[in-house]
Amino acid sequence: MPARVLHCAAMRLAIVPGDGIGVDVTREAVKVLERASSLGEFALETVSFPWSADHYLKTGETVPPGAFEDLAADFDAVFMGAFGDPRVPDMKHAAEILLGARFQLDLYVNFRPVRCLDDSLCPLKGYKAEDVDFVVFRENTEGAYVGAGGNFKKGSADEIAVQEDVSTRKGVERIIRYAFEWARAQGRTRVVMSDKSNAMRFVGDLWQRTFAEVSREYPTIEASHLYIDALCLQIIRDPRPFDVIVTNNMFGDIVTDLAAALQGGLGMAASGNIHPGRVSMFEPVHGSAPKHAGTGRANPFGAILTMALLLAHLGRAREAAAIEKAVQTCVRERLATPDIGGALTTSAAGDAVLGKLQL
Ligand code: NAD
Ligand code: IPM
Ligand code: MN
Repeated sequence: MPARVLHCAAMRLAIVPGDGIGVDVTREAVKVLERASSLGEFALETVSFPWSADHYLKTGETVPPGAFEDLAADFDAVFMGAFGDPRVPDMKHAAEILLGARFQLDLYVNFRPVRCLDDSLCPLKGYKAEDVDFVVFRENTEGAYVGAGGNFKKGSADEIAVQEDVSTRKGVERIIRYAFEWARAQGRTRVVMSDKSNAMRFVGDLWQRTFAEVSREYPTIEASHLYIDALCLQIIRDPRPFDVIVTNNMFGDIVTDLAAALQGGLGMAASGNIHPGRVSMFEPVHGSAPKHAGTGRANPFGAILTMALLLAHLGRAREAAAIEKAVQTCVRERLATPDIGGALTTSAAGDAVLGKLQL
């Protein structure tokens, strides 16, 4: 991942914990971040933003006008927890905060690494942790998420609902190119593009042609295609052949929850929403899991690993690697929450990472 050049001495981060367990896991991720800044001797400034279901229900505001321009101007990166609350069934606040950040900051790369940190977390019979090591590049600004469509005769027996799936040449090309560039930079040798072009001919055709054209520019990288349904089967039958997967917004959303199961569950999966050279946003893959909110059962490791992705993105590779290593040690020693076989609370699991963290 290309590093973003810091524009001031201190690393300035915007923190948006959000809803439910987003708040619980963000607290731990920030704790680890603060320790990394003292061990790594880099100055850090964090500013927390209250945008969440609570804030929306209290004030009627999801994000204030101009918020994303301010984030882009004043911060080096943004960390978000999770959004979703049963009291806001239409997800208006999540759409405006989370999807708002992705769309308005034009974070077209959703980078979701899939790595299993310990054999104990690998659910596949006969496979080991080292067999699970690939990356999903999810297109993040188009597809079924653009919000194009509408209802007609809503609530009547003749109701019609339309939800458009939009792909542009520019959008498809830039995510595919990013996947190849990343593969080349990381010494990965295979890129798989996954779509549903057998059923969705129009967008499928655009993805197919663009993939064929871009892949010709990377002759040393093996380019192949799998339909998304077949890909789902293959990654759980044998994940070893996968290096890099590139796919659209919705397929990327679905396949990364499936892939989270290869990492030990949703509590272990990290992600970055990136536009190279611009302010980017990092969030764990999981949601707000309302039933676990405030109970101490939320696994903070996905959020902590997400903070490591953020640090690596900002040029702090050493601290990022140290955090990953500390989390891996905690997983191995079962210094973890119950979802991955430990008996610790969310904050005790965060403390365990602090205890193992060394540069
Ligand atoms: P979820 O990811 O919140 O939780 C699903 C289940 O996975 C949980 O019940 C829990 O058993 C497990 N889980 C998830 N994260 C965990 C963690 N850190 N530690 C331990 N267990 C964990 O998905 P959901 O229940 O489908 O969605 C809940 C809400 O979150 C919804 O409103 C949904 O729209 C929203 N959501 C938000 C995001 C996001 O903000 N990025 C992502 C996914 C879902
Ligand atoms: C994710 C989530 C979001 C998505 C939801 C909350 C809109 O599932 O980040 O994976 O679909 O992108
Ligand atoms: Mn998802």
